[in-house]
Amino acid sequence: MGILNKHKILETNATLLLIFSFLVVTIGGLVQIVPLFYLENTIEKVEGVRPYTPLELAGRDIYIREGCYVCHSQMIRPMRDEFERYGHYSLAAESMYDHPFQWGSKRTGPDLARVGERYSDEWHVDHLTNPQSVVPESIMPKYGFLSNREIDGRYIGDTMAVHRLIGTPYSDEMMESAVADFKVQADPNGDSDGLLERYGKAAVRNFDGQPQLTEMDALVAYLQVLGTMVDFSTFNPDASR
Ligand code: HEC
Repeated sequence: MGILNKHKILETNATLLLIFSFLVVTIGGLVQIVPLFYLENTIEKVEGVRPYTPLELAGRDIYIREGCYVCHSQMIRPMRDEFERYGHYSLAAESMYDHPFQWGSKRTGPDLARVGERYSDEWHVDHLTNPQSVVPESIMPKYGFLSNREIDGRYIGDTMAVHRLIGTPYSDEMMESAVADFKVQADPNGDSDGLLERYGKAAVRNFDGQPQLTEMDALVAYLQVLGTMVDFSTFNPDASR
C-alpha cells in the first residue's frame, strides 16, 4: 500500500508527473543510445560488398535524378511474404556505400533490392523504354530518352571524391582510373582487367546494345548489380557473432 500511496502524489501533481516522466524517458533513452557511441561500427562487414564502379555510381545518380525511389524501395524486410517474393532480406552492409541510401518508403512498383541479374539487359532496356511493351498493365513512366543521352564520365571523379569524403573507400588508384573504368565497363572488347582487379566482380557488357555510351548503359549497369554483391549460398549470418 505504501508505494501506491506515494504514487498518488505523482498522479495528482501534473508538474511532478511531468518531471518524473522526463526522468524516466531520459534514462531509457540513454540506456539505448549511449552504447552506440562506444561501438566501432554498427554495420557488420559482409564479404562481397564493394563500392560501386564509376559506371554503376553514375547509374545510381540517374536513378535518383529520375525519382525511381518514389515508386521503388530497396529494402527487403525479414518477413516471409517479402523474402519469398524478393529473396534474402536486405543486410545493413548491402547499403553501407549508398549515400544516401535508397531504401525508399513507397512501393508503387516492386522492391528492387535484388533485381540485379534477374532480367537480361535487353529486358531492362525494353522495359525502361516502354514498360507497357513488356508488362501491359504497368503504370511505370517511359524513360527511352536515356538511350539518347550520351555520357563520357567527365565528372565521375568529382562524384567519387564526394563519396570518398563521406567514407566510401575509393582508393587513389580507383580515383586515377575513374574515367577509364567508367568507359571500359560498357565495352566488352576493351581491356577491363584493371577494372575487375579494382572492384572484383563486376558485369562488363554493352548494356544498351548501342555503340555509344549512354545514360541507359549506366542505369542498367546499376540495376544489374543490385543485390548481387553478397553470395547468399555461402553467407552465414551467425558467423560474426
Ligand atoms: C510511377 C511509379 C514508377 C516510377 C517513377 C518508376 N517505376 Fe519502375 N515500376 C513501377 C511499377 C508499377 C512496376 C511493375 C510493373 C512493371 O514491371 O512495369 C515497375 C517495375 C520496375 C522494374 C521491374 C521489377 C521487377 O522485379 O519486375 C524495374 C527494374 C523498374 N521498375 C525500374 C525503375 C527505374 C530504374 C525507374 C526510374 C528510372 C523506375 N522504375 C521508375 C512503377 C514505377
